[in-house]
Amino acid sequence: MADQAETLREIMKNSSAASHAGQEGKTRIITITSGKGGVGKTNISTNLAIAYAQLGKKVILMDADLGLANVNVILGIIPKFNLYHLIRKQKTLNEIILDTGYGLRFIAGASGFARIANLTEEERQNFVEGISGLSSADVIIIDTSAGVSNNVLSFVEAADEALIVTTPEPTAITDAYGIIKIIATEMDSHNMGLKLIVNRVKSVVEGRKVAERMIQITGQFLNLKLDYLGYVYDDQAVQNAVLKQKPFIILDPKGRASICLKHIVSRLEKVEYREGGGIGNFLRKLVGSQSRDSGEL
Ligand SMILES: Nc1ncnc2c1ncn2[C@@H]1O[C@H](COP(=O)(O)OP(=O)(O)OP(=O)(O)O)[C@@H](O)[C@H]1O
Ligand SMILES: [Mg+2]
Repeated sequence: MADQAETLREIMKNSSAASHAGQEGKTRIITITSGKGGVGKTNISTNLAIAYAQLGKKVILMDADLGLANVNVILGIIPKFNLYHLIRKQKTLNEIILDTGYGLRFIAGASGFARIANLTEEERQNFVEGISGLSSADVIIIDTSAGVSNNVLSFVEAADEALIVTTPEPTAITDAYGIIKIIATEMDSHNMGLKLIVNRVKSVVEGRKVAERMIQITGQFLNLKLDYLGYVYDDQAVQNAVLKQKPFIILDPKGRASICLKHIVSRLEKVEYREGGGIGNFLRKLVGSQSRDSGEL
């Protein structure tokens, strides 16, 4: 336990020293989640990561959807090593990070990693140590599974920003509200930077209506600020790209969905980096939230 706290102190000291030197420590960590499954998280995470990389940022995409290896499928790659190998100290961070050929680097999830809280103390420390090497990235985008597992909540809580994806479907909206409610009640959410993306819209007005409704109910019933980050058109090019196992922003860069993603990135870039965020904060919160539900630390 003392060892782990010591490691974290080191990491935070290093990342703040780096940011004072004007180098690292400004890593922006964005978690993408949803209430309902299948609403487009993985497509949005992957293509958002590429759009960020196209701006010249150093981007890492991390698959924390531990059930199905979704990002692999969309990128058309089969990773040999993943977070599991890092946690078991079988591989180093550099050995598990893959160059995708799309300007971003990718870390595959691990099915043996279903709940961070279930890791042994040593494994957790290996994870924290390993991941701390990511502080040289500008942006880390984390794709999670749908719903409210502890694992998803840990990533949401630890990140600088959480992007909630919904579609205009009533069931998706209800489930998005459900996960926002859990975030509001289970964690210190008032300074959280919760943002909404409405995917698969038929029109700008449709997206705006969904967002206005969500913002109104989260404000009224949860006293929580939700920002509307943008919409993505329902676009056949997305489905075609999935079939071809290539990101749609590469196959159809001028298409409707691709343009929407580029708008979303430029809106994210206009948002100021929040004070106290970054990799040190991410790790501290990630470990902190484990200890909350495992009753340790
Ligand atoms: N903007 C879009 N236009 C058209 N089809 C889309 C769009 N976004 C997603 N889809 C379709 O929805 C499917 C599911 O998308 P994706 O795998 O990204 O969802 P997910 O939220 O990550 O799912 P899961 O919850 O299973 O992880 C895609 O394979 C594609 O067919
Ligand atoms: Mg997915």
